[in-house]
Amino acid sequence: MTKATTAWASKRAAAVPGSVFTLMNGAVAQARAAGHRIIDLSIGSSDQSPPEVALEAVRQATLDPFANRYPLFSDTAPLRHSAAAYMARRFGVTLDPETQILPLIGAQEGLAHLLLATTDPGDTLLLPDPCYPPYLGAAAVAGLKVHTLPLLPEYTFLPVLEDVPAGLSPRALLLNYPNNPTSAVASLDFFRAASDWCAARGTLLIHDHPYAELSYAGAEAADVAPSALQAATNSSFEGIVELHSLSKSHHMGGYRVGFAVGDAEVIAALSRVKGAVDFHPWLGIQAAAAAALATVPAGLEVFRSRRDALVPALHALGWQAEWPQASMYVWARPLDEQGRGVQDSVAYAVRAARQTGVALAPGRAFGANGEGYVRFALVQPPELLLEAVRRLADVELEE
Ligand SMILES: Cc1ncc(COP(=O)(O)O)c(C=O)c1O
Repeated sequence: MTKATTAWASKRAAAVPGSVFTLMNGAVAQARAAGHRIIDLSIGSSDQSPPEVALEAVRQATLDPFANRYPLFSDTAPLRHSAAAYMARRFGVTLDPETQILPLIGAQEGLAHLLLATTDPGDTLLLPDPCYPPYLGAAAVAGLKVHTLPLLPEYTFLPVLEDVPAGLSPRALLLNYPNNPTSAVASLDFFRAASDWCAARGTLLIHDHPYAELSYAGAEAADVAPSALQAATNSSFEGIVELHSLSKSHHMGGYRVGFAVGDAEVIAALSRVKGAVDFHPWLGIQAAAAAALATVPAGLEVFRSRRDALVPALHALGWQAEWPQASMYVWARPLDEQGRGVQDSVAYAVRAARQTGVALAPGRAFGANGEGYVRFALVQPPELLLEAVRRLADVELEE
């Protein structure tokens, strides 16, 4: 007799929250069947090309039979050294490539394993709300209690750490600036305060930094998107770890590559856990990432021109939308003529997708404090963003 598949799901698997994007996919399929041309702004997957040097590194690796072996830790040296050079050049942070840097199969993989490597079931994780939804899944897999930190517009979408109850003893605090979904940025002073706060409590500071290079002010304006490691008081970066990704900054989302930097003890624990579950990325991908990190990231102008088209169009529609200083998103509150907002962002986004073929990410998908918002990913040219806004003008905010 065959058992129902659900009988095989562990408590851990069952605790991973489902995704509203499944619902969105259904709505998009209905719109397509009804003949709408889909404008998908729901997922932050860059539509631009990786740097030519990265493509060339992959081409070369395909011609090298030795590139196909299992990559050992020693094989990751070129990527670790390139990451060290990038961190020094970009943030003035000096890292030991042997002990303070580890390649990842993307920041998402890195975070899930980092939580397994540094926490025990029942520990408390401080998580922003709204946040990148896989954070909740990673916390569930690690069996963590989540204490949410509201990110509110009145505090420029920064958490108020003073509001964390005194008796909580959180094991880790997870931050992400430039932020998904709100596009908010945090200054180095904020990271210094967060780092002091964590140090005083024995809390690990985890900073997820995939949008490090997507600051519209340009890389030279380092304070718009600083590294949390800049807040460290010495070169051991005690209790601080940061996740970097090539997905957004270098348009290499499908390559699945990033790296972790920081406290050597944390990196060693992460390496130990990853050693039980994966090998390092294919050498061709590592070579591509190493080459890409040595370039000045391109494509920011493209995202900026899209932002500059979309935000005024949303304002003309009467919606509230901040001018993002960084990231590849616009976080907006749909408002009607009376200034009333959306009560159910999921129902609104599903309706908008079904009726117009425009797919947005509903704010509630990112947490309770995301309710009333939608997120636009700047992954289509300006003319399609404007077309999307024209279509959205016809969608009722409430059923
Ligand atoms: C905050 C955040 N972290 C991590 C990721 C995933 O990064 P990667 O592609 O390196 O796994 C994303 C992707 O959208 C993100 O927004």
